[in-house]
Amino acid sequence: MSSSKTVLVTGGAGFIGSNYCRYVLKNHPDYRVVALDALTYAGNLSTMADMQNNPETAPRFKFYPGKIQDETVVNGIIKAEKIDFIVNFAAESHNDRSILDPGSFIQTDVYGVFTLLDAVRRHGVERMCHISTDEVYGTIDDGQFTESSPIEPNTPYSASKAGGELQVRAHRITYGTPTVITRCGNNFGPFQYPEKLIPFFVSRLIDYKKVPLYGSGQQVRDWVYVMDHCSGIDHVLHYGVTGEAYNIGSDCEKPNIDITHRLLKLLDRPESLIKQIGDPRGGAHDKRYSIDASKLKSIGWKPAYNFEEALESTVRWYLDNQSWWRDITATSDYQQFVASFYGKYLGEDL
Ligand code: NAD
Ligand code: TYD
Repeated sequence: MSSSKTVLVTGGAGFIGSNYCRYVLKNHPDYRVVALDALTYAGNLSTMADMQNNPETAPRFKFYPGKIQDETVVNGIIKAEKIDFIVNFAAESHNDRSILDPGSFIQTDVYGVFTLLDAVRRHGVERMCHISTDEVYGTIDDGQFTESSPIEPNTPYSASKAGGELQVRAHRITYGTPTVITRCGNNFGPFQYPEKLIPFFVSRLIDYKKVPLYGSGQQVRDWVYVMDHCSGIDHVLHYGVTGEAYNIGSDCEKPNIDITHRLLKLLDRPESLIKQIGDPRGGAHDKRYSIDASKLKSIGWKPAYNFEEALESTVRWYLDNQSWWRDITATSDYQQFVASFYGKYLGEDL
């Protein structure tokens, strides 16, 4: 494609960030990838090990531990590595944790974004792609969100993501900072931390544990396979119009109960493992997300994966890579979170 570039991927030890590092190393053989990650509970060195240990990718991949809100770290990396592009995935990303501890979300998802924007401006970085979410739009009963839908977030997580986006917008308008924004639906795929719906349920079902379905299970999410999200981000990074936001979606709306039944079927587990519980999110539980991605499609992107096949291969990945997620589910942080969030709902089924 284009000439050689060095891409700083923040949050590169997390789910989507690590998959994006893989995507760039594979699809841009002349690019270097520099990952920056604070290695919070959600970021793991094991998630990047394949890229660091593969002799074909290792010379083009480098990892720095650190926080995006640490300006010394961020400015130092941009200078030392001669960064051309920044793709910002670093975030506190789980709605349920944002209900327990909203403050940490503002630190990373708002202040951290400001730090990156400030560094982009100082160092003349060519472009920053900020990874946002469809959740900034809030919930929609009918129709689909377009990029001009109002920003109406309902949870501390989505409000912090909206705050980060507004920093991006303001820097673009005030300083002319070269930015683009993406907003994607719910992702699934390999290396997703086992607290989100699909990997949480798969890891529990593998062990014949009950899965807590919130409320009616009728809430609808617009699912996107992670590698389609990565190709969409890469398309926006290279071909998006500066200052614009792009939805990324593959028209795949499913209620949570339907996802749960599919997982039971793929793993050959009985219906009795579903435990319908009260709704821990209460009024903050968004009923439906639905994304119109025609703006991105109009500049040449389209999703490549079939939902059923991608879900099956994701379940297969969790069956084949049990040491990756069992190392996580064995940590005290994970066990404390699950006990404190689900204890009163699951009781002896915890
Ligand atoms: P994740 O929680 O798996 O990964 C986040 C990564 O960021 C982790 O490796 C963590 O250690 C790192 N991190 C957290 N705080 C940091 C900080 N202050 N400095 C540096 N690194 C830090 O999340 P994910 O699911 O991979 O999501 C990545 C991005 O995509 C997020 O910005 C999220 O809002 C967005 N997004 C996610 C989804 C989804 O379905 N998962 C959908 C749309 C958008
Ligand atoms: P989640 O994966 O946390 O993503 P998000 O909050 O960003 O949509 O949740 C997806 C849906 O699944 C959401 O409607 C809440 C529901 N859910 C459950 O029913 N049980 C669970 O244990 C989890 C984690 C989620």
